[in-house]
Amino acid sequence: MLVGGQGTRLRPLTMSAPKPMLPVAGVPVTAHMLARARDAGIDRVVLATSYRAEVFEQYFGDGSAHGLRLEYVTETEPMGTGGAIRNVAERLCGDPDEPVVIFNGDILSGLDIEALVSRHTETDAAVTLHLTKVVDPRAFGVVPTDDAGRVTAFLEKTPDPPTNLINAGCYVFRRSVIDAIPVGRPVSVERETFPGLLATGTPVFGYPDSTYWLDLGTPAAFVQGSRDLVTGRMVSSALPGPIGDCLVLEGAVVAPDAKISGGATVGAGARVGAGAAVDGAVLFDGAVIEAGASVRDSVIGRAAVVGAGVVLDGVVVGDGAVVEAGNELRAGARVFPGARLAAGAVRFSSDRT
Ligand code: GDD
Ligand code: MG
Repeated sequence: MLVGGQGTRLRPLTMSAPKPMLPVAGVPVTAHMLARARDAGIDRVVLATSYRAEVFEQYFGDGSAHGLRLEYVTETEPMGTGGAIRNVAERLCGDPDEPVVIFNGDILSGLDIEALVSRHTETDAAVTLHLTKVVDPRAFGVVPTDDAGRVTAFLEKTPDPPTNLINAGCYVFRRSVIDAIPVGRPVSVERETFPGLLATGTPVFGYPDSTYWLDLGTPAAFVQGSRDLVTGRMVSSALPGPIGDCLVLEGAVVAPDAKISGGATVGAGARVGAGAAVDGAVLFDGAVIEAGASVRDSVIGRAAVVGAGVVLDGVVVGDGAVVEAGNELRAGARVFPGARLAAGAVRFSSDRT
């Protein structure tokens, strides 16, 4: 599982935690995907870490609490997706034809992993890619296939995509393909390995699947993924509570007349004051929402404080930041960790035309 990216689009949240460790519906993204792997019968996973490597091992340990055997391989310099995969080669035990399942660590997906592996074995492919359809494929790897499902091209982040079928970030590699990735320099599977295999006529197959799929790389997607887990649109056995309209974690204190809805998560030890409304938002552990505030589709970092009457919609508030009373922030606003926004400093004018 590839968990070494920097998560730049999720800054400032990723200034303190790597993207795959940010809590969605109460537990790290990685925990949800590890649970899916375990539920599909995978019993051993190697985490390919780079950025903030230590936090993964602190949280997951040897994996026994998650029903898995977990190992860690850390790059001293980020080696790209291919370099990260190559880096775990010596930890793989199977023979050269054995299938190895690889996951991007920032995805929530309902993919039937066993079906992906079966397709790989049936077609005798070198690599099999999980494919999914998205409305706007430009931010992804675009993967046209022929009628038999054989991949004809791999176009990473292309401005003019020929299809809206994209690389969903879960692969089965024949072990020998991993061993053939060059060592000692960064390699991108998307820009180098896949196009290289196609250029030599090596069989690469796609496995299109239309179950739930989301890349959590942006704040809007992050909030949506969390909501979908809480409400059960995306099923995860790692969800730390029952499916419902909200998820309130241990030690959180919610005033009786506060309204938590839309699949919102209230983190451990967080507080929501009288009359406040939290709709579809993610409150990390220890966050404080004061009386009468309204927080919608936003992420509130650890121990951050949202003052009385504040209105937030589509906002990211970094860990420990304080948004004092009476502010109003809307889509795209980011408050950096530890920052303090003075009372009433930002408002939206009602006479905008
Ligand atoms: N260990 C390690 N080292 N991991 C890395 C590195 C690295 O140098 N670079 C990225 N990763 C990990 C990230 O943590 C993430 O889990 C995964 O590799 C993919 O990186 P992203 O940065 O999230 O890439 P993306 O979302 O822009 O594009 C990728 O995913 C799309 C699907 O969500 C590509 O694989 C696209 O082709 C694909 O469509
Ligand atoms: Mg991504």
